[in-house]
Amino acid sequence: MKLAILSRNGKLYSTRRLVEAARERGHSVRVLDPLRCYMRISTEGFEMHYKGAQIAGYHAVVPRIGASVTRYGCAVLRQFELMGSYTPNSAAAIARARDKLRCHQLLAAQGIGLPVTVFGDNPDDTVDLLSMLGPPPHVIKLNEGTQGAGVMLTEKLSASRGVIETLRGLYAHFLVQEFIGEAKGADLRCFVVGNQVVAAMRRQAPKGDFRSNLHRGGTAKAVKASKAEIETAVRAAKVLGLGVAGVDLIRSKRGPLVLEVNSSPGLEGIEAATGVDVAGRIIEHVAGGGVPVRKHPRNADLTDS
Ligand SMILES: Nc1ncnc2c1ncn2[C@@H]1O[C@H](COP(=O)(O)OP(=O)(O)O)[C@@H](O)[C@H]1O
Ligand SMILES: [Mg+2]
Repeated sequence: MKLAILSRNGKLYSTRRLVEAARERGHSVRVLDPLRCYMRISTEGFEMHYKGAQIAGYHAVVPRIGASVTRYGCAVLRQFELMGSYTPNSAAAIARARDKLRCHQLLAAQGIGLPVTVFGDNPDDTVDLLSMLGPPPHVIKLNEGTQGAGVMLTEKLSASRGVIETLRGLYAHFLVQEFIGEAKGADLRCFVVGNQVVAAMRRQAPKGDFRSNLHRGGTAKAVKASKAEIETAVRAAKVLGLGVAGVDLIRSKRGPLVLEVNSSPGLEGIEAATGVDVAGRIIEHVAGGGVPVRKHPRNADLTDS
């Protein structure tokens, strides 16, 4: 299989591991910076160039698109899809997952557990909006935040109102959720590949914080996810259309609740905590799903130069 990893930095742990896992399995693999891929779109056919040379003929692409380049990265990925490359996570699925509100709407509609979430625009509606949610503590989070930055806990109604006012003043998009206190700062990252949870870890927030992100100083250890947790994680990834996903669950009194579905989940923390060759599982999944490159009917030459 001729494979491309779309990643801004070949030195990142996750990117390196994917390259290594692909080579070990005899695939030809190249890391492409999505911001250096550019394209010609015409009715007669597509053309993609990379740093001055034409690229084509990739059987599959593994996207590792960071939140800061979602828009351009997804346009490049969509172009690969149109040129016949297989991807476990389509551009449409990544865009869906990046938007927490959209993601919650889609998951809730399928009966998947979530913290109760409210969302509104007008300051005149804040009091009623918060009464729809219930009493504090509340968790207020930026709609497109990552790595725990932009997730805040408010213990009093006046604090919720103050934070909401501030965020509105900054024209930020945000959600307000019930706080799941019984989780005691822990969550469960389920790494989904295809129809399976290939690895799971429990992350615990550092003392004095409620956010368990490893980037916020959280610690991780391998755990066995329950049947209900596995089912929730696999279904959540499926609803969003992601073949590879990091599904964050919180253990609540009413069962597993999805906090977030990550379309470019990091490999370092989960491989270190569990010892599972997650990169290998991703490559094997992609090689299984990869179909022969479908040549654009009007594209004269799709060979790599
Ligand atoms: N409703 C909530 N109740 C309790 N803890 C929460 C809630 N939402 C988020 N958290 C904690 O904050 C962390 C970050 O939240 P998350 O929604 O995953 O945002 P991010 O995209 O920044 O990781 C979670 O891993 C969890 O530990
Ligand atoms: Mg998260």
